[in-house]
Amino acid sequence: MVTIYIEGEAYTVKEGQNLLQACLSLGFDLPYFCWHPALGSVGACRQCAVKRFKDEKDLRGELVMACMTPAGDGTRISINDAEAAKFRAGVIEWLMINHPHDCPICDEGGECHLQDMTVMTGHNYRHYRFPKRTHHNQDLGPFLNHEMNRCIQCYRCVRFYHDYAGGSDLNALASHDHVYFGRFENGPLESEFSGNLVEICPTGVFTDKSLKAHFTRKWDLQTAPSVCVHCGLGCNTIPGERYGKLRRVRNRYHHQVNGYFLCDRGRYGYEFVNSTQRIRHPLQRTAGEAIPIPMTEKEVLDLAGTILADPGKVIGIGSPRASLESNFALRTLVGPDRFYAGLSDSDFSCLATGCNILQKGPVPASTLQGVGLADAAFILGEDVTQTAPLMALNLRRMRYRKSARIASGFQLPEWNDAAVREIAQLQKPALFIATPYPTRLDEEALRTFYAAPDDLARLGFAVLSALDPEAFPMPDLKDSLRVLADEIAQALLDAKRPLVITGTACSHPALIEAAANVAWCLGRKARAAAFALCVPECNSLGLSLMGGHDLNSAFQAVREGRVDTVIILENDLYRRADTETVDAMLRNARHVIVIDHQQTATAAKAHVVLPAATFAEATSTLINNEGRAQRGYAVMPAEGQIRAGWRWLRKLMNAAGHIGARSWFRLEDLAADLVKDMPVFQPIVGLDPKVDLPTPGGKIPRQSHRYTGRTAMHADIDVSEPKPPADEDAPLAFTMEGYDGPPPPELISRIWAPGWNSEQALNKFQSEINGPLRGGDTGRRLIEPAASDDGRYFAMTPPAALSGEDEYLLVPIHHIFGSEALSMASPGIAQRAPRPYLALSPENAPAKENERVRLRVNGRSLDLPVKLLPGMPVRMAGLPVGLPGLAKLALPAAVKILGTEKNKKE
Ligand code: SF4
Ligand code: SF4
Ligand code: FES
Repeated sequence: MVTIYIEGEAYTVKEGQNLLQACLSLGFDLPYFCWHPALGSVGACRQCAVKRFKDEKDLRGELVMACMTPAGDGTRISINDAEAAKFRAGVIEWLMINHPHDCPICDEGGECHLQDMTVMTGHNYRHYRFPKRTHHNQDLGPFLNHEMNRCIQCYRCVRFYHDYAGGSDLNALASHDHVYFGRFENGPLESEFSGNLVEICPTGVFTDKSLKAHFTRKWDLQTAPSVCVHCGLGCNTIPGERYGKLRRVRNRYHHQVNGYFLCDRGRYGYEFVNSTQRIRHPLQRTAGEAIPIPMTEKEVLDLAGTILADPGKVIGIGSPRASLESNFALRTLVGPDRFYAGLSDSDFSCLATGCNILQKGPVPASTLQGVGLADAAFILGEDVTQTAPLMALNLRRMRYRKSARIASGFQLPEWNDAAVREIAQLQKPALFIATPYPTRLDEEALRTFYAAPDDLARLGFAVLSALDPEAFPMPDLKDSLRVLADEIAQALLDAKRPLVITGTACSHPALIEAAANVAWCLGRKARAAAFALCVPECNSLGLSLMGGHDLNSAFQAVREGRVDTVIILENDLYRRADTETVDAMLRNARHVIVIDHQQTATAAKAHVVLPAATFAEATSTLINNEGRAQRGYAVMPAEGQIRAGWRWLRKLMNAAGHIGARSWFRLEDLAADLVKDMPVFQPIVGLDPKVDLPTPGGKIPRQSHRYTGRTAMHADIDVSEPKPPADEDAPLAFTMEGYDGPPPPELISRIWAPGWNSEQALNKFQSEINGPLRGGDTGRRLIEPAASDDGRYFAMTPPAALSGEDEYLLVPIHHIFGSEALSMASPGIAQRAPRPYLALSPENAPAKENERVRLRVNGRSLDLPVKLLPGMPVRMAGLPVGLPGLAKLALPAAVKILGTEKNKKE
């Protein structure tokens, strides 16, 4: 730590920080544009000028850019110095020369960093009277609007999109005063992280197209802290609602999870909440009726009282996309012996293996932040860009961090972005990627290896053997594999923070075991090793920790007539098992009750459908891939008969005379029962922060103090202002009244501070720049490494061989846009999703690109266009998973190509 002097006052700050970071961390207001806490400094905009003095006798000083000047012991600066203030006002005036006067109609208005900085510098009069430069705007696809005339040439967009996130189709084009930030032609931005430009751009060049489709002013949004439901990473989000409609999703900073960013699936996948496919009323389908008819709640409960009367005949199928509370309520209703996890066979076994490793292994699960800090990483079997996007974004930081380590030898600090990047050009980090086919992240890898899942697992075991030949000898290894395994092992051993990443994407538990072996061996060699498990859905890990039987046993129980009633919670079984099996179960069960928010293929065949709340309407707990329990709060009240899944289940239990649920009035009541039953979930009790509010019983408002039109919003229905809906499950209220002091970190849902209307105000909520929020990191980890270690490893299983010369091994291919069901209800995501295809190596594909082939797999015939995928091993084929129109298949599986035919046009 060093002492610096600001306006003559002494402050203690971290040595080597730049002065801008130091000033912001101390709470000073100092304008800036090109600096960003995650991107570092380039000193381009000249907006952060301060006066620096040699010592206390120096009265003249010199102007320096705070973002480019390290804080040293005894550094003396003035922010308020008249010359510095004039310089900053002058910079704003230049930047504003071409900026349009369109704040009142600008999508950025009200949370614009340029507006804030203009006010902060006191620039309030334009002297420039001549025509402004104008640009054509581009169509950048479904996620982002483009309004280039608002650009202030800070370069942040390119620095994020290109340098940080690895996108190659957005750049600074042209030159002089015509510099242009866009694509070389119209077309969707290709990066999976493009939506972050909305928050990165300090003005209104890149704005949220999904919000524009149902625009509302930002201060009129009702917001709540939430958690993304579109993959297993649990990124923190802030959804915004107005008039009962979800309007947008923004990043919510979490130091250890998603930092400042989201992927585009997480940002734009929310439209399922507003979808016309929402189930909004209880429905009943009676025999012979094609269209279900609405039911009253009394009718639902009367029916439940009858059909649930014999508990021995009822089973429940849970869901990895439903909350912990709803899954537990279902498990309580049917009893643990009749609770089925609702996972596909492969997810069931992969998740059971992964949970076991996380709970019993000697190595901790990595946080997402930990992924970014790794100095060597070995990915086994996972295309992380598609299955765990933010993990891929953090892995892209490995190259920068490697350069920063070298740069530190030249006394260059990590925040000096341009200088560190100059070194980075020549560096590749110790990142090793072994997958069945090439992935987007491969460009960052030192080595890649493409092979069938069995062979990938074999590489994992070979790395273990190289790390510890005595514990795990593998004498019969091919030379090429041994060389690669030795190189990976050495890089992991040389690293201070080695990381092993795997997951469920290949549907192959042996891969997860092989990866765990490597991580465990490193841990046993006293390295600070970590293990990262990618899981497919937002509560996959929570459901797996809860247990339950596999889905096949549920099908069998119905087939054998041991049960006659099935309750299915937020789950489309056609995505979990083959069509014929699910059809048979839904046909054979006497009563099928579905509780869900989407009209799925399963719901379409149920006898009774009950409308469940989404994440936006119900407070709930999810467990992410590292085992962190996080609570997401309802952002809007549930309409009409829509209820949280667990609330419907409580009603059904009461109707059936089940005593278990009678005391569940609030979410915390249910949570107390949950941890009594399953102590692994103990940390979720008290997950809501204790808010010490000046008003007893008071809550934190979800609406901002700038919220407008409240009395007029529903005037077409009633001119008197209705009482705000009660919320028993959260320390938040659906009002603008209540506590307006600093909220605890778990409950921050608006990034606002006096003078700072944009999300750049985040510095006012952080304990230090890039550090935890004031009050600490949120969420609680359920799983830490086992205290005792038996030193054992998983044994290797022999690889399965293909039988015929004409067979290929068909593996699943995951797509960030398309493989996840809920996000596909967003038109923008659906537009970016691929159509079904069969991926083959160009080396031995029996057909050309786009020609159709007929194939047979899992006893089913398919007819698909070919996509040639250079790098895919010969004798392997890939099929996208989860796309509409593709039935669930058990993969990997042998596939036979039966014939080809010319494709006219897809
Ligand atoms: S488009 Fe936005 S982020 Fe990019 S240079 Fe212009 S103002 Fe900066
Ligand atoms: S990485 Fe996963 S959790 Fe994070 S925003 Fe994307 S889909 Fe959501
Ligand atoms: S923020 Fe310092 S020069 Fe741009």
